[in-house]
Amino acid sequence: MIRRIEKRRARHTKQHPHPPSGTVRTPPKTAPRHVSDAAPEAIIEMRGVVKRFSNAAGEFTVLKGVDLMINRGEFVSIVGKSGSGKSTLLNMITGIDHPSEGQVIVNHNDIYTGVTESARSKWRGKNLGIVFQFFQLLPMLTLLENVMLPMDYVDMYDFDERPQRAMELLKLVGLEKFANKLPVLVSTGQQQLAAIARAMACDPPLLIADEPTGNLDTRSADTIIQIFEHFVAQGKTIVMVTHDPSLTSRTQRNIIISDGELIDETVSRCLPQLRHRHMLEFTKIAQRRTFQPRETILSQNERVDHFFMIRKGEVEVVLKKVRKARKP
Ligand SMILES: Nc1ncnc2c1ncn2[C@@H]1O[C@H](COP(=O)(O)OP(=O)(O)OP(=O)(O)O)[C@@H](O)[C@H]1O
Ligand SMILES: [Mg+2]
Repeated sequence: MIRRIEKRRARHTKQHPHPPSGTVRTPPKTAPRHVSDAAPEAIIEMRGVVKRFSNAAGEFTVLKGVDLMINRGEFVSIVGKSGSGKSTLLNMITGIDHPSEGQVIVNHNDIYTGVTESARSKWRGKNLGIVFQFFQLLPMLTLLENVMLPMDYVDMYDFDERPQRAMELLKLVGLEKFANKLPVLVSTGQQQLAAIARAMACDPPLLIADEPTGNLDTRSADTIIQIFEHFVAQGKTIVMVTHDPSLTSRTQRNIIISDGELIDETVSRCLPQLRHRHMLEFTKIAQRRTFQPRETILSQNERVDHFFMIRKGEVEVVLKKVRKARKP
């Protein structure tokens, strides 16, 4: 059985003495902007995940200690060079493969500790929708039957209810007219739409997509992203690997993986022109600091041998008024 674990929150706040006046500082504390009534809740937590593979040349490490937190309701893209470990990372979240070290918690479930493969497979059917680059529809089943398949597998919904639910999902992706066709008789874009309908068959809270538009034309890709946006607006969480920059710009968070390590998101946002390996170097040397409201960050004429990237919050520059000397 998959063990349900309780959510733990740790808050680290650093106390600072009363701030002196200065030239660059944080603004006074204001009422927090209303974003959502609910505090963010992690739906995916990866802690120190390492994945090693072995081949004829020996053992090599593909994921080198990944820590990642994705909140419920986020639309996240993951990018990185070919071979950087994107699919391996997704496979750790879906339970398709297992980590060599570390812990993966999805929807409050520790999916590897003391869990059998078959329990994980049932859990996956109820909790995750998965979309691959090459659709992976069963060729001898109609689109409708393909969409019904996950409901049959995890025995969700009444038997009589399943065709109607599958039809509603096909309607949602604009395929109701093709419901009784075999995959080979529809376009590749339509096959991917059917695969998305199948992924959502059991109404999972989380959709994982590995290059879902990698094999499609721009228009079909756009339709798929619109459907993803619709699911996110309904509160679903989507994690999508993509190579397409026009798609990453439509997600709320963009995570870059470089040679099996995650790049700090502040570094990639502030220094987008850098090569991934240089971003990774910055990630390793950057230090995180927290400033209280009105605290001075830098004073005029102060010597600095480093620079700041703002991760969260606002900074203001305070200039002293220069009084004009009165004419005698
Ligand atoms: N089952 C496996 N056995 C051995 N090596 C593997 C296995 N799966 C992946 N690898 C290796 O791990 C590395 C990362 O592979 P992965 O598929 O995660 O990369 P990727 O970032 O998804 O690349 P792409 O953009 O080409 O899909 C590659 O060197 C790959 O050859
Ligand atoms: Mg891949």
